[in-house]
Amino acid sequence: METVSRLGVVGCGLMGSGIAEVAALGGTDVLVAESSPEAARAGRRRVEVSLDRGVCRGKITEEARDAALARLAVTDDFDAMADRQFVIEAVAENRDIKTGIFKTLDRVVTDPQAILASNTSSIPIVDLAVTTQRPTQVIGMHFFNPVPVQALVEVIPALTTSPDTVARTSAFASACLGKEVVQATDRSGFVVNALLVPYLLAAVRMVESGSARAEDIDRGMELGCAHPMGPLRLLDLIGLDTAQAVAESMYEEFKEPLYAPPALLRRMVAAGRFGRKSGHGFYEYA
Ligand code: CAA
Repeated sequence: METVSRLGVVGCGLMGSGIAEVAALGGTDVLVAESSPEAARAGRRRVEVSLDRGVCRGKITEEARDAALARLAVTDDFDAMADRQFVIEAVAENRDIKTGIFKTLDRVVTDPQAILASNTSSIPIVDLAVTTQRPTQVIGMHFFNPVPVQALVEVIPALTTSPDTVARTSAFASACLGKEVVQATDRSGFVVNALLVPYLLAAVRMVESGSARAEDIDRGMELGCAHPMGPLRLLDLIGLDTAQAVAESMYEEFKEPLYAPPALLRRMVAAGRFGRKSGHGFYEYA
């Protein structure tokens, strides 16, 4: 099986920058596309800060950091994706934006074997696949935050995805990114979010109803169940806006009340309290 030596990543926010970092550290040439020169520069900076942190903590050497940065380029010109063998889209959880990007990638990427993957948490992969002329080569590849730490990738074939694309994607995830793969069917939430999201929303409802304070809920799950962080701290890490978008997609698909975003979550998102990335969420961040 041909190895991927030229990866494209679209979007360099929380998830895209993590994917780019892991791939570049693993030895893959990475080109990241963002919507503007400023966003591209900020994305590269995000990777630099994370790699510097790795050096400070003794996780990677300065040489490994420098080599990774030498393999990483950023651009705001989507045409530059033309020579990529594999592209992972990791932009905000918005169906219109994602379908627009898949149409563009399909037009721009010249390699007829290239795979186009989406890091969507909840949008049906088939909806993205059918916007392209290569629906057999479109697949879901769902990473977890923080990408450099979390060992898992969910691989999600759409009804249109070929077995060869599934095999090449799984091989790339394990060989080039060092991730463990689990396969899920193309239903909203896949495996992990289908189980995680109702739990996170239940914690929000506990705060909303005054049953317990955020700190107590989190300590309860950290010390009672040995979770690395409680549900409200985890929501702050994921981003409340992202969590709301995921819950809405799952609710739209299943009409299951446990997936419906509680009013408190909606109000916090409306207030701009997105969690860590905005400095406010269930907790305050400096
Ligand atoms: N990049 C690289 N390494 C990082 C990192 C980052 N962004 N953040 C933390 N780390 C590393 C640290 O270097 C540290 O490594 P060592 O122990 O080897 O030194 C380790 O992770 C622990 O970090 P910290 O000591 O800073 O902090 P912590 O112990 O509180 O752990 C955490 C932080 C890794 C985030 C941990 O709390 C955790 O695993 N939380 C659960 C995260 C989780 O469940 N993520 C999935 C969310 S769901 C999702 O993403 C999908 C979706 O669609 C919504």
